[in-house]
Amino acid sequence: MINQPFSPVLDSVPGLRRLLRLPSQLLRFNPFAGDCLPTRVPLFQPWSGRPSLPFPHPWNYDQPIRILETYFWNADREQGSGRHNRYLEVPGFGPVLVTRDPGVIRAITTETGDRDGQFERDTLPSTGIARATGKDTLLFSNGASWRRQRMLAASPFGKTTLFQPEMFHEFAETFRGTVLQRLDTLRQHLASTGQQSARIALEPELKAVMLEMLVNNFFGAKLPYEEFRERHVPALERVIDHIVRDTVMNRFGIPVMKLPSFTRRIAQAKQDYACFEELTDVVLAARRAGAGLWKQFKSDAPDAALRSNLKVFLAGALEATTSYACWAITHLARNIPAQDKVFQEVRDIEVYTPENLNGAKYFSHVLDETLRLTPSLYFLPRRAPVDVWIETADGRKMLIPRGTHILLDVWHANRHEDHWGVATTGFPALEFAPERWARLAEQGSGSKEFLHFGFGHGPRVCPGKHLGQLEVGLVVGAFVKLFKFQAATPGIEAKAGVSTKPIDGTVVDLELR
Ligand code: HEM
Repeated sequence: MINQPFSPVLDSVPGLRRLLRLPSQLLRFNPFAGDCLPTRVPLFQPWSGRPSLPFPHPWNYDQPIRILETYFWNADREQGSGRHNRYLEVPGFGPVLVTRDPGVIRAITTETGDRDGQFERDTLPSTGIARATGKDTLLFSNGASWRRQRMLAASPFGKTTLFQPEMFHEFAETFRGTVLQRLDTLRQHLASTGQQSARIALEPELKAVMLEMLVNNFFGAKLPYEEFRERHVPALERVIDHIVRDTVMNRFGIPVMKLPSFTRRIAQAKQDYACFEELTDVVLAARRAGAGLWKQFKSDAPDAALRSNLKVFLAGALEATTSYACWAITHLARNIPAQDKVFQEVRDIEVYTPENLNGAKYFSHVLDETLRLTPSLYFLPRRAPVDVWIETADGRKMLIPRGTHILLDVWHANRHEDHWGVATTGFPALEFAPERWARLAEQGSGSKEFLHFGFGHGPRVCPGKHLGQLEVGLVVGAFVKLFKFQAATPGIEAKAGVSTKPIDGTVVDLELR
């Protein structure tokens, strides 16, 4: 990797670099170099049939997957590297690179970190999150501040802590207790109606269980379930919607709490943000009591210094785990043979140990396939702080110029026939086929070579991966064990904001096993 260091002359005059770049931007020179060049996407292309404009604006910000799709409009007609790598350049601004090439995604995620010449997380798409939670978070920060926070999070979230037999057992039991209690309410409801089956939208139910597990079981608080279900989940849902809208619409960058309550919408948003603060207080009170996994958190940082991060964990983890569980149930509801196979594996699991969960191979393939086909985080944002050369595992090189905003388009990479199709995995890329993972393993390649980036990759990989997998595994496993379920709507369409979810709210017809 080569990079262009800080230049005292060029960097002494603000905007000088941008000015020097203007002529080549106006002449439309490709600012990238190497042997896997991206091709240019026009800013406007009337009558082309493109689904959207290639940037978010007030009329398309709620359809981010269509914005990404716009970059690859007609790209399948190309044969070169532009088939999976595209860029947009508007004079006066830094280039935008969008890639659905797994080799390039891997190279960039591997080279993201706090060393000189490495990529950093692009904070532009998360300005709304930062306004809601604070800037000093693991998600938003870069450089030395990110490294410090990462080290602090390592112990409580690490596999060695969660999967230590004693710790794991304690968690698995409390998680399982929570899940079983909630599912039992559903079971009783079904039994009391005397009906064979009930139609139910699972997303709100799953959200409440996920938040309860995180707040009560992981962070050791003791809030009643009804409070999660009736108060905190609806408030957090509205905060998260507000965050997405705020990223595009809030041109003046004023946090909602500082706005006067002119409209009902602002008044409601202020109430919701206050409720979010209250939930954070509850979690911090558990810290003072040394409850839950706070025991593993070795830091004398004052509560105020942890607040922003806790808010990111609460909102982010709720979004990601709900998305993952909703998608897994959505796929199994449309694939009854796969559901039956999972049932055969989990029906006799009474004690949740890492070995038992590892033994449920087909189930773990279902979970991998879920994150591949419908990743919760559909793109990973990066930025090149200097000129950076990347090299893919198969030896292709690309120079990414300083200031480039990079969107690693995991959603489209994971769904393209070139990368995940019949020729490489034995099954069409757009099909939900957990069997592809067994087949890849037989060929000697598995999840190490075929990365779905569902938890990211490289130094900024998700620190909550093991906790999230445990939560989703327990919830979906317990659900399959208790109920037979099938889809109530035919297609599978995605809605996307901070994360993706099935557009129908995960409506299924349930019956007791
Ligand atoms: C099970 C569902 C989850 C999924 C699918 C998921 C996915 C991801 C992905 C893809 C990233 C990488 C983003 C990037 O590279 O730009 C990430 C980062 C992150 N995740 Fe998760 N996550 C999950 C659960 C959790 C949980 C339970 C927590 C915490 C309680 C958490 C906290 C974080 C944080 C703080 C980061 C930023 C890390 C950094 O930048 O160093 N996640 N997550």
